[in-house]
Amino acid sequence: MSRPLHGGNLQWAADIAGCSPNSILDFSASINPLGPPKSAIAAIQSHLETLTTYPDPSYQSLCQVLSDIYQLPIDWFLPGNGSAELLTWACRDLAQYEWTGVLTPAFADYQRALSAFQAQIHPLPLNLSQLQDLSPSELIEKTLHSTSQSVESAQSGLLLNHPHNPTGGLLNLNQVEQLLEQFSLVVVDEAFIDFVPSNAQFSLISRVQDFPNLIILRSLTKFYSLPGLRLGYAIGHPERLQHWQRCRDPWSVNSLAVVAGIEVLRDYAFQAQTLSWLPSARSELQQGLVDLGVYPLQSAANFLLVATHYSVPALQTLLLTRHRILIRDCLSFPELGAQYFRIAVRTQAENERLLAALADCLPRLSA
Ligand SMILES: Cc1ncc(COP(=O)(O)O)c(C=O)c1O
Repeated sequence: MSRPLHGGNLQWAADIAGCSPNSILDFSASINPLGPPKSAIAAIQSHLETLTTYPDPSYQSLCQVLSDIYQLPIDWFLPGNGSAELLTWACRDLAQYEWTGVLTPAFADYQRALSAFQAQIHPLPLNLSQLQDLSPSELIEKTLHSTSQSVESAQSGLLLNHPHNPTGGLLNLNQVEQLLEQFSLVVVDEAFIDFVPSNAQFSLISRVQDFPNLIILRSLTKFYSLPGLRLGYAIGHPERLQHWQRCRDPWSVNSLAVVAGIEVLRDYAFQAQTLSWLPSARSELQQGLVDLGVYPLQSAANFLLVATHYSVPALQTLLLTRHRILIRDCLSFPELGAQYFRIAVRTQAENERLLAALADCLPRLSA
């Protein structure tokens, strides 16, 4: 099996570790370890009978919940089969313009979705050597500033990620507003924003009604630990979303995803539990990594990008064979290569297990 492009490929890891996939402790996919919420499981179990009928193709009940939460009219929402489906539609719209700016390193699926429609990708490289002096958020701001100063953008688009995967940096909302004045279309992927405390203040959702050229993509995958269910939603101008709805498969979101989504979006206890676990778990993990002599970046999300002088593919293999722990190598991010790895923040006990495994493996690499 070839090296995976995305995190979470447990079969690939199990083949290396010589064990079954469910014996692997997975730090490579950035999924909330506290989930899925019990409310999701209960909703799925009590709605199994809905499998015998088609879902409502307009997904009114789910959109109504979103509308109540975000205080926007119902037609500003479109649920999708994961945010990945909606990313594909957004990239089809981006492909109408001369080029699309993408901060690099970038989530690998952007390349897939933009290339599917022959969109011209214009990389906006983050100068990673500056991360010694700047936080990822500051570096993103600086990079976007020089983009806005230096390029002809009236017929161009931007595909941004907030917080940014893999660095964990946040966008500056005032700067994005300026970019919205300048660029024809701006797509902001907020797949990880639920992990940011008081995220309503940080999300671009508060700006969406002012800018018909803004599309926001959200995912229930990471925060609610539901990668297999496939549920996300787009927020954008109703005309654009209606156009996507007319073009796409009429039932791309299944009935069980709808009922689970309705419950978890209102599961305030689970949301509060996650937001109280993450900051301390992340900072303890970060400190543990620093103590081991590697360099985690400041992250607003539930993952850490870690710079190291060691060879990450060799470290990854040792962690798998000796401890059955999978970390995300960054070989699929060409700008990062073999000197970086990314890890999810997991429970305190699991994070300690990772730190102990790293303490065992790192000296074997330098020896
Ligand atoms: C930045 C980013 N956006 C979107 C996605 C896709 O999420 P979904 O499962 O909702 O399709 C991922 C998944 O890894 C991601 O990292």
